Amino acid sequence: MHRTFAFALPLLLLSGCSPKAASESGANNPVIDVGDGDVLVAYFSVTANTRKIASYAQEHLGSDIFEIVPEQAYTAEDIDYNSDCRANREQNDESARPRIKSSLADVSQYDTIVLGYPIWWGQAPKILYSFIESYDFSGKTILPFCTSGSSPIGSSAANLAKSAPQANWLEGRRFSASASKEEVGNWLDAYIKKETDMKLLIDDRGLNVSWEDNESVKALEKMLPLTISMHEYGGFEQTGPIGSSIPRSDVQMDVVPGDIVRYNDNAISVFYNESSWSYTKLGHIDLSQPEMDDLLNKPSVSFVLKGE
Ligand SMILES: Cc1cc2nc3c(=O)[nH]c(=O)nc-3n(C[C@H](O)[C@H](O)[C@H](O)COP(=O)(O)O)c2cc1C
Repeated sequence: MHRTFAFALPLLLLSGCSPKAASESGANNPVIDVGDGDVLVAYFSVTANTRKIASYAQEHLGSDIFEIVPEQAYTAEDIDYNSDCRANREQNDESARPRIKSSLADVSQYDTIVLGYPIWWGQAPKILYSFIESYDFSGKTILPFCTSGSSPIGSSAANLAKSAPQANWLEGRRFSASASKEEVGNWLDAYIKKETDMKLLIDDRGLNVSWEDNESVKALEKMLPLTISMHEYGGFEQTGPIGSSIPRSDVQMDVVPGDIVRYNDNAISVFYNESSWSYTKLGHIDLSQPEMDDLLNKPSVSFVLKGE
């Protein structure tokens, strides 16, 4: 399908739609904190463009994914939009609600739904309405995206939002079929801040850590599980080699007891007393100075990072 879509046609076909609602769907770009398992990527796709973007999103978020599969699959004839095809007829029928083959086991476990679909005549395919109307999305956040030949997301998400007005609809985004994984990841990062599952144990003691949201921490997460043999240095820290290189964005800083930093030549340091140097901060252990002293003021410790 190589035709470039003109704008006038979708607007004529769906003149009842209100483009105004698009901006009402939330242009303020809030960043939502989500933990693992709270996000679902749900999508509909016939020719696999939306599927590709959805899979990038799922990989980036480490989330669950659900494909909206029609009970009656769309054949090439069904989407031949230059003819009186099934897709065109559905888009022109206000009441069309194509049936979905399988349903989501439990929507209540998700707080955020990243919802993807192709643009059909300027709007979401009617099966998206079938999906939205099948569940209770009250209080959930929906982040829509679409793929298209050329049309923007326009009023498509705002019109869908009318079928689930109790959800918090964020401003949607259009991707071309050739969008990169990085483009999708950057878009998601602007909306969804994923909490890391990384756990720290020092000498087998599990610790409460606030991790930074930066490239160095993301690189560490990819190396889990990671064990570092640390030794005491200078009367203020334990330090040891990571074993391979992680990104750095060093700045001169005053560290306090509990701080975890990337230091020097790919080492990690954890502090039990104050110090000043050029570091990349990785996180902070939520313990007092005497507790940090008790934990680290010894010749060596084992520093273990684990996933969930
Ligand atoms: C029935 C139909 C209508 C379409 N209408 C538009 C349109 O209005 N604007 C546009 O840019 N692309 C339009 N397209 C192209 C699709 O949006 C585009 O190819 C999309 O990436 C397909 O996604 P998929 O591969 O996930 O099914 C239309 C395609 C079909 C089948």
